[in-house]
This record gives sequence, C-alpha cells and structure tokens, in this order.
Amino acid sequence: MSRCNCKLFSLSLYLLLLFHALLLATALRSHGEATEQDKKAYIVYMGERLKMDGFSIKLVHKNLLNKVIASDDASERLIHSYTRSFNAMAAMLSEEEAKKLSNMDEVVSVFPSQRRELHTTRSWDFMAFPSSASHGAFESDVIVGMLDTGIWPESESFNDAGFGPPPHKWNGTCETAKHNFTCNNKVIGARYYHLQGNISAGNIASPRDTAGHGSHTSSTVAGRLVANASLSGLAQGTARGAVPSARLAVYKVCWDNEGCYDVDLLAGFDDAVADGVDIISISIGSSFPSDYFSDPIAIGSFHAVKNGVLVSASAGNSGPGRYSVANFAPWMLTVAASTIDRKFISQVKLGNGDVYQGMAVNTEGAKDNLYPLIYAANAPNKTGGFDGSISRYCVEGSLDRKLSRGNVLICDGLNDGSGPQLAGAVGAIMPAQGANDVAFEFKLPVSVLGVNDTAKVLLYSNKTRNPTAYVAKSEGVLDGLAPYVVSFSSRGPHPITSNLLKPDLAAPGVDILAAWSPLSTQKSSLYNIISGTSMSCPHVSGSAAYVKSFNPTWSPAAIKSALITTAYNMSPKRNIEAELAYGAGQVNPLGALKPGLVYDADEIDYVRFLCGQGYTTKNLRLVTGDSSSCTAKTNGSIFDLNYPTFGLSITPGKPFSATYNRTVTNVGDSNSSYKVSVSAPDGLKINVDPQVLTFQSILEKKSFVVTLEGKTKKTLLSASLVWSDGVHKARSPIIVYGA
Ligand SMILES: *[C@@H]1O[C@H](CO)[C@@H](O)[C@H](O)[C@H]1NC(C)=O
Ligand SMILES: *[C@@H]1O[C@H](CO)[C@@H](O)[C@H](O)[C@H]1NC(C)=O
Ligand SMILES: *[C@@H]1O[C@H](CO)[C@@H](O)[C@H](O)[C@H]1NC(C)=O
Ligand SMILES: *[C@@H]1O[C@H](CO)[C@@H](O)[C@H](O)[C@H]1NC(C)=O
Ligand SMILES: *[C@@H]1O[C@H](CO)[C@@H](O)[C@H](O)[C@H]1NC(C)=O
Ligand SMILES: *[C@@H]1O[C@H](CO)[C@@H](O)[C@H](O)[C@H]1NC(C)=O
Ligand SMILES: *[C@@H]1O[C@H](CO)[C@@H](O)[C@H](O)[C@H]1NC(C)=O
Ligand SMILES: *[C@@H]1O[C@H](CO)[C@@H](O)[C@H](O)[C@H]1NC(C)=O
Ligand SMILES: *[C@@H]1O[C@H](CO)[C@@H](O)[C@H](O)[C@H]1NC(C)=O
Ligand SMILES: *[C@@H]1O[C@H](CO)[C@@H](O)[C@H](O)[C@H]1NC(C)=O
Repeated sequence: MSRCNCKLFSLSLYLLLLFHALLLATALRSHGEATEQDKKAYIVYMGERLKMDGFSIKLVHKNLLNKVIASDDASERLIHSYTRSFNAMAAMLSEEEAKKLSNMDEVVSVFPSQRRELHTTRSWDFMAFPSSASHGAFESDVIVGMLDTGIWPESESFNDAGFGPPPHKWNGTCETAKHNFTCNNKVIGARYYHLQGNISAGNIASPRDTAGHGSHTSSTVAGRLVANASLSGLAQGTARGAVPSARLAVYKVCWDNEGCYDVDLLAGFDDAVADGVDIISISIGSSFPSDYFSDPIAIGSFHAVKNGVLVSASAGNSGPGRYSVANFAPWMLTVAASTIDRKFISQVKLGNGDVYQGMAVNTEGAKDNLYPLIYAANAPNKTGGFDGSISRYCVEGSLDRKLSRGNVLICDGLNDGSGPQLAGAVGAIMPAQGANDVAFEFKLPVSVLGVNDTAKVLLYSNKTRNPTAYVAKSEGVLDGLAPYVVSFSSRGPHPITSNLLKPDLAAPGVDILAAWSPLSTQKSSLYNIISGTSMSCPHVSGSAAYVKSFNPTWSPAAIKSALITTAYNMSPKRNIEAELAYGAGQVNPLGALKPGLVYDADEIDYVRFLCGQGYTTKNLRLVTGDSSSCTAKTNGSIFDLNYPTFGLSITPGKPFSATYNRTVTNVGDSNSSYKVSVSAPDGLKINVDPQVLTFQSILEKKSFVVTLEGKTKKTLLSASLVWSDGVHKARSPIIVYGA
C-alpha cells in the first residue's frame, strides 16, 4: 500500500505523529516497505462521468487496464471504479503501466494513491452569531456531506427529535452493515470506505466514529443545541452547530491510526455529489502540493462544484512557514484557523512559591499537593536500553518507573504524555514548540511552558535540594488579543499558482468544544476540546450552509464570495503575514447574508483558468465532458478569474503593474448604486474603473477593471477595495507580496 505524508487536519493527532515520525524515522528506514512485485495503488482519472451504468463502466475500465497489463489479470488489478460523479478507477499498477496509461487518450492523469491525514461552543458567540439568530426557511433542506472519520450517531448533538423526513432530493443511503449503526432524520446518510487492505484494530467496519474527529466536525457544522455540554466542566456551555436544523450525510474515508487513503477519499466525493449533498466539508489534506489533477481533493471538488456543491476545506496545520497552504484550488474555500477569546491555561506551582502559566487542557490536576520534581534526563529506563539523551524527551518507554513514579517530570520535548503516564508520573512540564498559542490534551496533567520558563523550572530543580511542583487543572481565561491566526495554521502564498490569494478566510480552530466518540483512544468522552484547521473548516462549512439555507439558488462561487467579502477584518499586528495568514479575515455568517454584490463563477471560468495554467484541450475536454478547447481565446489569465480577492506576486524593489477584470452580480436591492473605496499603503496605487456601478435589477451583472501599480522594498503590502451602496458592503483584500 502506498503511503504519503498527508493528514486529517486535527492538531492533536498531527503533533504526535510529527514527534513519533522524528524519533522513529531512523528505525523505519532500515526496514523498508515490502512491495507486491513493485505494484502499488494508483488512481487513473478520466474526467467527466460516463453516462453508462456502473457495470458497463467497469468493463470499460478493465479493457483499458488490459491494454497496459501483459497478462489478462485486469480484474484482479482493478480496486474500484468511480462512476457516479466523475470517471476514474483505482488499480494496482507498476510504475511502467502507470506511465503507459497516463499517455492514453482517455486519461487525464495517473497518480499514486497516497495516505492523507486529518489535519462550545463559545466559538459561534465570539463570531457574533448568537443562537437566537434567525434561521433560513430552507435550513432543513440543506444537506452537508462530511468526509471524515464517521460519526457517533447516538450523540445528543445528532438527536433528530422534531425532524421531518429527509428532503426529496436526497439520493443517498445508510450503510448499517452488520454493526448496529443507524441513521435518523438528522444523520440521513452514512457510508464507509476501506477499499484497500485490512481495517486496523480499534476501528469498526461501519460509519461509526471511533476516532472522535468526525463527530466533532459534524457537530460544529450542524449539531443541535445541547445545553451544559463540557469536557469535565471545561468550556461549559451550550454546544451547537451553525445550522442545527440541517441534515448530515457522513462519508467515513479516514480511519483511526491509519489516516485517509486517496482511493477512499475519492469514493467519498463520488458518492456525496451523486447522493445530493449541498455542501462538502473536508478537513483532510496533504503537506506536499501537487497539481490540480493529481490531487484527489482538487479533482473531487471540481466535480462537486460543477454539480453545484460547495466544498469547504482546511488550509492545513503546517504553518507558520510560507507556501504551506493546502487545498488551494480556486474552486474550493480554503480555511485558516484563528483563536477565540477563551484560552485554556494550566498553572505550574513550585515548592518555592513561584507560579508559571502554561497552556494545556487538563481535566484533572493536583490541588495544592506538591510532588517531587525531577528532570526526565535523570530517570532513564536503563533496562530498556535508554539513557538520559532520550529519556530527557519523555519518549514512551524511555523512562524508569521507579525513578518517575509519583513525581512531576520536566521534559525537553512536547508529546502526548504517554511516556510519563506509563512510568507512573503524576504530572509533566513540557516546553512549547514555537509559539505557545494552543492548548493540547494530554494523557496526564501537563503544562506547556514557554522555553524560557521551562528552563527556569529546570534551574530551580537543579539548584534545590528537594524540588517540588504541581500541575493544576486547566481553567478557561479571556484572551483579549483574539482573534489572530494561530501559529500552526498553514500560510500562503499559493504554492503553485502565483497571484491567487490562499487561504481565503479564517475561522475558529483553537480549543473548540464539540461532540466526540466515547470509543476514542485519545479521550473517552461525549464532548472534547481539540484544535486544528480541521476545526476551523466546519465553522465555514456551517456558515456556507447557513447562507445556502436563505439562498438555495446561489452557486458555490456566489456563496463563497459572500463569505469572503463580508469577513471581519483581522489585524496584521498579531499576524505579520497578514492576508497570507487570514485571507479576507474571520468568517461572519450573519454578515454573509447581505454581501450586496457577489463575484460569481462557474465551470467555464475554471476551465479558462486551467487552460491558462497550461492544461491541454484533450484534458479539458475529458474533464468537462464537452467540446471545450484551450485556445488563445479561452486562455484565461489568473488576473481575469472572477475571484473575490486580489493577489500580486512581485519582486521587491522593482516597479510592478497588473490589471484585473472582474464582474459582480447584484444580490442586494434591485435599484442600487455602489461606490468603490480603496485603501492602499505607500508604494501602491490602486485604480478602479468605473468607480460607480448602478443596477436596475437583481442578478444584473456589471464589470470593472482594477489596476495595481507601484514599487516597494517591502515583501508585503496589504490593501483593500470595498463596494458599498450605503447598506451592503463587499470588501476584497488586495495583497502584494514578494515571492
Ligand atoms: C441516485 O443514485 C442512483 C445510484 O447511483 C443513480 O442511478 C440515480 O441516477 C441517482 N438519482 C439522482 C436523481 O441523482
Ligand atoms: C450496539 O449498541 C449497543 C448500545 O449502544 C452497544 O452496547 C453495543 O456494544 C453495540 N454493538 C456493536 C456491535 O457495536
Ligand atoms: C488481512 O486479513 C486476512 C484475514 O484475517 C489475513 O489473512 C491477511 O493476511 C490480512 N492481510 C494483511 C495485509 O494484513
Ligand atoms: C452540568 O454539567 C456538569 C458537569 O458535567 C454537572 O456537574 C452539572 O450538574 C450539570 N448541570 C446541569 C444543570 O445539568
Ligand atoms: C522500560 O523498558 C522495558 C523494555 O523495553 C519496557 O518493557 C518497559 O515498559 C519500560 N518501562 C517504562 C516505564 O516505560
Ligand atoms: C527567551 O529568552 C531569550 C534571552 O533572554 C530571549 O531573547 C527570548 O526572546 C526569550 N524567548 C521567549 C519565547 O520568550
Ligand atoms: C544540574 O545541572 C548540571 C548540568 O546540566 C548537571 O550536571 C547536574 O547533575 C544537575 N544537578 C542536579 C541536582 O540535577
Ligand atoms: C496562454 O497564454 C500563455 C501566456 O501568455 C502562453 O504561454 C500560452 O501558450 C497560451 N496558451 C494558449 C493555448 O494559447
Ligand atoms: C480585461 O478585459 C478586456 C475586455 O474584455 C480585455 O481586453 C483585457 O485584456 C482584459 N484584461 C486583462 C488583464 O486580461
Ligand atoms: C427602479 O428605478 C426605476 C427608474 O428610476 C423605476 O422605474 C422602478 O420602479 C424602480 N424599481 C424598484 C423596484 O424600485
């Protein structure tokens, strides 16, 4: 089975994986992975859906395979045929066979199936979206498809009391299998995919969530109101999703401790679109960029958007470095993670009375009981062959039980605390990696201190005869600096298309309370607090569903534009990367109901964009299923893609100039007149022509041209352009950045 470095974008998992990867890299290298005669699973993407029955499509696929496979064992090689929303197959191929296939007329792209990872609810109130906000007339007709780890359907968040039957358009199913998983009128559909290999221990062959992640994201989108939800008293309050009356359709494409395989991910898209979902929420991605047709999420969402389904995806947890953003196709919404005004701190108190404030989600901790404090380097598990050079990091198995038991350990590395827990420690103090701006959950009471504070604690333990300490239970405190984009959230610029701003916007993704799975090995609980762009994405998916519930006819691009142009401004003071960190700002679901104007786009706009990016007529025809062609006339410049934001890549110190064409559609008042206003820093001149757009009817379109000119030594210039009729306001960020 082929492997990659992709993930569900939930941070708690991510950190642990990262840590283990570092430590185990050497060990694994010597083993190497056994391959079955050098064959691995590939995805063969062939574009638009074939209008034939599934059986015939399978035959077509087998025939195609037979053309490149010497023996006639095509049936054994075919893993899956994708037939419902697009045309693709998964098959076991050698590199040579894959290459031959990629040259065939019917084929757009061939790429190995990789393994991806998963990258209160105070968050909605913080976004000024109270539970008393009015709800759309069509909310119970909106179906959100969740591509994730499944769901815990018995959770109060998914109770269907008072719900009518699913909307008529619903064409999905509930795969109950042999396990007692049942859907209801809230969770109207559920499927699971494990097309390759055996399901690993701890997982259940049903849509049931044993990880927690899928229940968490689903309840953030559409959980009903659940009073007095908390994690052992932490973050106590009413848990709710954006659209409590909307329906959920669950596609379990990720598995606990396994990650998410492309072959399964693509099957989830294939079904979700054909089943009739309105929005797809996907908190999964890769940390390496690939081109638009070698990325199953880009392919799946292209066909989703073609069918009127908006895809909202997480930006990834690979920040704060530049060019780290994932899920960056222009037809998707890309969501960064911001903080809310509550953070979880855990105090460390030392025997000398000193108190330090760390970050952690501890549901329990010591109360005034001081315990002996020791440095983990001084407690190596010698029988296990470890010395202080490893035990100082508190790696699992490296600590001696006799020396650690009943003590608080000072560790030199950040991990989930399995090592100290196994060794019987009663607490641990760990240094933050980079910015200390997120609180994790651990296996025992842990406080994560800044590196300097950790050093001070170590000094105390070193200089004191009988050093003692305790780690307290966490408390939620006000974070007056919020919102800002958290350090782990992936940043732009766009890794493969210059002059296109990604991420699009930000939403809360730090220490979010939402539904969970009691079978989770991370934490057995019905509600849990976790962080990641995995958590910010469903806030935007839910906001998109909210907009859709008032405006059922709006296209995916129109909804996306409404969310982007009405986002709350965020401050570059706390995020020096500005728009490259937060896009247009923090999503504002109520504001998104009244954008006035939207930047609409449909398939042909994206096809022109792809043509301009060098995709050939042959491939574009396969993808669209029509006679599209890539000629000088359809050669779409990125400057003409009708996107609601403006990006420009420059060489600092050299003069620059760029012209953008845009068209806005009136969704405000029929008779209206919009005036433009721009704000620009020194070194940037913005010209908009015309400066006034007058409309006589709803859905009327008007075009304008924007010119950016200037010269700067800076690597980042933030500006904006706002169309307003005095009532509505559509704001587009403009970002000029040094590549
Ligand atoms: C519903 O799904 C079935 C099975 O894939 C398909 O044959 C049918 O065309 C779908 N119906 C609609 C209305 O999409
Ligand atoms: C079925 O559900 C019941 C009640 O929730 C539970 O106790 C039981 O373990 C479940 N069985 C399986 C196979 O999941
Ligand atoms: C999968 O499970 C089957 C039946 O338990 C077993 O025979 C086979 O070896 C397993 N395959 C792998 C790759 O673990
Ligand atoms: C709320 O939850 C807490 C903690 O789970 C519990 O102790 C308390 O009794 C609950 N309060 C109400 C009113 O249900
Ligand atoms: C110490 O190492 C031994 C041998 O690897 C292992 O069995 C034991 O669990 C380790 N002790 C702790 C506390 O991790
Ligand atoms: C730690 O201390 C050093 C030296 O005083 C200082 O330069 C650095 O900014 C401090 N780091 C943090 C994270 O506070
Ligand atoms: C204090 O730190 C020094 C230098 O790391 C080390 O050699 C010494 O053993 C430590 N003393 C105690 C009591 O931990
Ligand atoms: C599209 O424009 C680019 C840049 O001007 C050019 O390199 C490319 O050849 C053009 N493609 C077609 C099909 O006209
Ligand atoms: C904008 O549109 C006009 C007219 O359609 C066209 O002539 C011009 O080339 C376009 N601008 C850019 C930057 O492509
Ligand atoms: C819009 O304005 C025109 C001309 O001023 C007027 O005839 C028409 O009645 C107005 N329509 C609405 C809906 O106000």
